[in-house]
Amino acid sequence: MPTTVDLLIRNARPVTCVDDDCAVSPASYIAIAEGRIAAIGPTASLPSTLTAHEEIDAEGALLTPGLIDCHTHLVYAGDRAREFEMRLKGASYEEIAKAGGGILSTVRHTREANAADLMAQSARRLKGLIQHGVTTVEIKSGYGLSLKAELKCLQVARSLGQTHPIDVRTTLLAAHALPPEFAGRPDDYIDHVVEHIVPEAARLQLADAVDAFCENIAFTPAQTRRVFEAARAHELPVKLHAEQLSNQGGAALAAEFDALSADHLEHLDEAGVFAMARAGTVAVLLPGAYYFLRDTHLPPVALLRDYGVPIAISTDCNPGTSPTTHLPLMMNMACTLFRLTPAEALLGVTRHAARALGLSASKGTVEPGKQADLCLWDADHPAELSYAIGASPLRARIHRGSVTNQ
Ligand code: NIG
Ligand code: FE
Repeated sequence: MPTTVDLLIRNARPVTCVDDDCAVSPASYIAIAEGRIAAIGPTASLPSTLTAHEEIDAEGALLTPGLIDCHTHLVYAGDRAREFEMRLKGASYEEIAKAGGGILSTVRHTREANAADLMAQSARRLKGLIQHGVTTVEIKSGYGLSLKAELKCLQVARSLGQTHPIDVRTTLLAAHALPPEFAGRPDDYIDHVVEHIVPEAARLQLADAVDAFCENIAFTPAQTRRVFEAARAHELPVKLHAEQLSNQGGAALAAEFDALSADHLEHLDEAGVFAMARAGTVAVLLPGAYYFLRDTHLPPVALLRDYGVPIAISTDCNPGTSPTTHLPLMMNMACTLFRLTPAEALLGVTRHAARALGLSASKGTVEPGKQADLCLWDADHPAELSYAIGASPLRARIHRGSVTNQ
C-alpha cells in the first residue's frame, strides 16, 4: 500500500460479500488509491504512518460493495401508464403486445425522440438508481428496432455513463420485438439483425453484450440461436430473456453459448437449471416484473440453490413491466415474493450481479484490488437493506474512490 492514499474510510463495518453468509466484519479501515481498494483491515492494524488526502469517519456504518443493477431497459421515451390501466381492467400483457401496444408503443416514442430528449428522459431514471446506491448499471437497447434507432439508444447509454458518476455496460437487444416494417416476416428481421445491427454495434464498440427475447410473443429458439451465432462471430458475450411467460428452453440455449446470464426464468425447468449450472450462467431474477404483471408462477429458486446457480437480482427498469429504479426495493421483493434470504438478495445485487456482467474481476466485492465502488449504510445488519419497504438507509455512495452522495 502507498504511504499516502486518496481516501481513508475509518470505523466502517464491512460486509465484503466474499462469503455467502454476508457476515459483518469488525470495525475496519478501507484505504483507496487511484480508484481502487488499496487495503482493508481491522481498525487496530491501521498503519500509523498512513496519510490520506480525504478521510471519512463511518461511525460504525455498514459498508458494502456499490450496488450493481445488471438488467435494465433504462433508455426509452414516454411511459405506459395507460396500458397499466388496461391491464388492471383485465387485458393481459400478451394481448396488449399482440394488439400493437406494449414494447411497440415504446418503440414509436423512442424512435421519435432525438438523442438529447432521450438522454434527458433517461437521465432522470439513472439519477434514481444513483440515489439508491447503484454504482454500475447495465442498459439494454431494444426500443429502437432499426439500425439507426438501436445505435442511437446505445450511444445515449454510453453518454449517460460518461456524464454521470456510474459505470454503464451496454447490451444490444435488437431482437426484443418485431418492428412494424417487418410485420409477418420475423426471419427477415433476424437477417437484418445478424447482418447489419450486430456487426455495426460491434464495429462501433457500442455493445458489451447481446441479448434477445426468446418467447412466444417475441422470437423462437431457432431465431435466438442465429442472434447468438452473430454475437459469437463478433466476440460479444450473450444474455437472454428466457422462460418469462412460457418454457421455450431458452435458458439451455443460452447456456450452450456460455451466456453470462439468463434472466426472468419464472418457467425454467430442471433441465434448464442443470444446463445453466454446467455453463456457469447466472440466473437473474426480476421481482419487479413478476409483481407488476401480477404473475403467480414462481421461478425455481430451490432448484437454482440445489444446483449452485448464482442468483442475481435486478430492477428490469422498463416502462411496460417494471417501471422502477429502486434496487433495494427489488431486494425486499426478492425476499418476500421469491423467498430469497436477505444475504442472497445482497449477493444478488453485488457479487453475482457483477458476474452477470462479466465483471467479477473488478467489481462486486470489497477486496484489495477491486474498484472502489462502495456504499455506506445507516444499518446494524445487512438484513436491514432488504427489510425496509421503499426506503433505503444509504448514508454515502462512493464511485471509483470519489464520494458522490452523502
Ligand atoms: O424485461 N420481457 C421483455 N422485455 C421487458 C419488457 C419490455 C416492455 O414491456 O417494454 C422485460 O420485462
Ligand atoms: Fe428485461
